[in-house]
Amino acid sequence: MSIFVTGGAGFIGSQFIRDAVRCHPTELIINFDALTYAGNLHNLAPVADFANYRLVKGNICDENAVLAAMPDDCAAVVHFAAESHVDRSILSAKEFVETNVLGTQVLLDIARHKRAGRFLHISTDEVGGSMEPGQWFTEDMPLIPSSPYAASKTAAEHMVRAAAHTFGMDAIVTRTSNNYGPYQFPEKLLPLAISNAMQGEPIPVYGDGLQERDWIHVADNTRALLIVLSKGRRGETYHIGGKSPLRNLDMLKLLLQVTGQPESLLTHVTDRLGHDRRYAVDCSKIERELGWTPEIPFEEGLRATVAWYRDNQDWVQRTRSGEYRKYYESMYGGR
Ligand code: NAD
Ligand code: DAU
Repeated sequence: MSIFVTGGAGFIGSQFIRDAVRCHPTELIINFDALTYAGNLHNLAPVADFANYRLVKGNICDENAVLAAMPDDCAAVVHFAAESHVDRSILSAKEFVETNVLGTQVLLDIARHKRAGRFLHISTDEVGGSMEPGQWFTEDMPLIPSSPYAASKTAAEHMVRAAAHTFGMDAIVTRTSNNYGPYQFPEKLLPLAISNAMQGEPIPVYGDGLQERDWIHVADNTRALLIVLSKGRRGETYHIGGKSPLRNLDMLKLLLQVTGQPESLLTHVTDRLGHDRRYAVDCSKIERELGWTPEIPFEEGLRATVAWYRDNQDWVQRTRSGEYRKYYESMYGGR
């Protein structure tokens, strides 16, 4: 049997694959990834030689490519592939609609055609829009996305639920809060701030910096995803959060303490357009039903993440310089 993973060369998808090849040693883990700017095969170096791992380069919007790559014995599709950065969606939403909405629809059609097993769709807490102070997002609340990114992820969720309702597909949606950890592309706040702090460079703080985000270590998230994949109830939505909402400024001050750098590096810049003030997911449903809870306290995870970036300067350098883009060519000769 096979597990067909999309977007497995990205930040969360690669953590999932590094975990899944070990948790599912008898299953072939296929990583279907277009290797956009966010896809980095260095993230998969630790498992590249595993016998039960295979990479297929392809775009989820390309029906023929997906049809050829998805095997007939597919036990599950785990769908991470997306355009994931909010700021990029503000500059141009087209790629977000293409990959996040159309790409999801292509995958759903082909998974149904191939009679694949469970379809696990990875969504985001951003679909609920901005929470009020002290408010927590539960699975039954309305979806009121604010950014083009969040709107495209909401549309994708609706397509998944429509396929489950109309065709009886075994689909599950998970919505995760802000992930952090090793191998995260340094356009997102935490890896950007860590690499800037390590170089003694200014850290851009959007607006007043009082926006709240709910941080979860990526390994806690992928542990939850593996549990949902095997034990989740079909048709359900599960929230996966770190139970750690923090204001950006407070989080960055903690980071500067950990890295031993001065707070004067924090530099207020123009705010993000339409910037959501607070995300915080209530994850009591997955705790109650599936016995999962986040295990890595934020400060401990942050220290480990800073240590990882310090110990993996070559990864940071290759990623920041764009050199990682050449790796696929050298490894696979463009195939
Ligand atoms: P990422 O940007 O690091 O990686 C995305 C991956 O998808 C890359 O490997 C890229 O090459 C691939 N991809 C992009 N377009 C593709 C296409 N058309 N066809 C095939 N592959 C394509 O993303 P991430 O941060 O790892 O997020 C993974 C998923 O989790 C996304 O669906 C995102 O919306 C969701 N999510 C992320 C977070 C977070 O904090 N990072 C939180 C909640 C939900
Ligand atoms: O909440 C889950 C979402 O988290 C995911 O769905 C997205 O894929 C992921 O990118 C992330 O979105 P955010 O917009 O919350 O993450 P980002 O790292 O871009 O920003 C975190 C916060 O920090 C946010 O309030 C904006 C702010 N910020 C961001 C950057 C890049 C800054 O203040 N300065 C920055 O330079």
